[in-house]
Amino acid sequence: MAISSAPGKVYLFGEHAVVYGEPAIPCAIDLRARVQATARDDNRVRLTARDLSLNGFTVEFRGGHGDRPDVDVPDVLVEAAVGYVDGAIEHARELAGGTDDGLELTIESDIPLGAGLGSSAAVTVAAIDAVAREFGASPDKEVIADRAYQVESSVQSGEASRADTYCSTMGGVVRIEGSDCRRLGEPDIPFVLGYDGGAGDTGQLVAGVRSLRDRYPFAHATVEAVGELVERGETALADGDLAEVGRLMNFNHGLLAALGVSSRTLDDMVWAARDAGALGAKLTGAGGHGCIVALTDSSSVKTALEHAPSCEAAYEADLTPTGLHRE
Ligand code: PMV
Repeated sequence: MAISSAPGKVYLFGEHAVVYGEPAIPCAIDLRARVQATARDDNRVRLTARDLSLNGFTVEFRGGHGDRPDVDVPDVLVEAAVGYVDGAIEHARELAGGTDDGLELTIESDIPLGAGLGSSAAVTVAAIDAVAREFGASPDKEVIADRAYQVESSVQSGEASRADTYCSTMGGVVRIEGSDCRRLGEPDIPFVLGYDGGAGDTGQLVAGVRSLRDRYPFAHATVEAVGELVERGETALADGDLAEVGRLMNFNHGLLAALGVSSRTLDDMVWAARDAGALGAKLTGAGGHGCIVALTDSSSVKTALEHAPSCEAAYEADLTPTGLHRE
């Protein structure tokens, strides 16, 4: 049996623009997904998922493309979850020399699905590592990050950046620009997250930004402006200037709203956090629905979010230096 875990993330700066080669700075947070892999002596794969915002489910499939599990949860969520896990198993088998032994997989996750916190990346990273190790391989982190990116990219039809998968594998604060990925460190940054209980459709939101960018030169410029802001954010982080980091997060939220990916619930939570004294607040991830991230260590921001009509849950989430972890 092998158990691996990997963290979720928030974007301090740069989601969406990163899809067009601009830099982005995500950072890992202490909400994790854990995957336990045990080899079976037949060639079946059984997947049990708990806490993936799905009320838990078990599916049995052969691990090949085309199998459809027969379960009582929405197809779109099952297909996404099974797609990431199936891709992870395929890559792990390859890393371990091509075995087709069966597997028992159990996934437990603290990270809400589709909420901009990188749940699919965390599950994919942990699953590749746990399965590869169960089959006798011991790939290094760079390899896991790259394989996890390939899984995300194929499930998301090529519209994925390396941000989520690299950040989840390495932990801490990272900087992504195309295929250039670096860890910036692990500064002490306190966050409060607000969650509206919904999930954004990443594919649709990415497509929306792409069509704005193709249609309007100023939308193209907005994407580039996000890139410039990220460079300044990197300097502010290096200087430990959290007030400037907060101001830039606010600016980044405004640019994301201009690109059409915010929503009434996300804006409402952003303003609740700012009004309660957060240094900055912005949506994180694809947008539409899901989470906002506020830069603050004040408990009054969490309380304000809990009372905001659009907020279903608020969490304190510190940056974690621990990426992929073998348990
Ligand atoms: O919502 P998430 O955590 O899947 O983040 C999506 C971020 C995008 O920049 C919109 C897409 C990507 O893969 O970088």
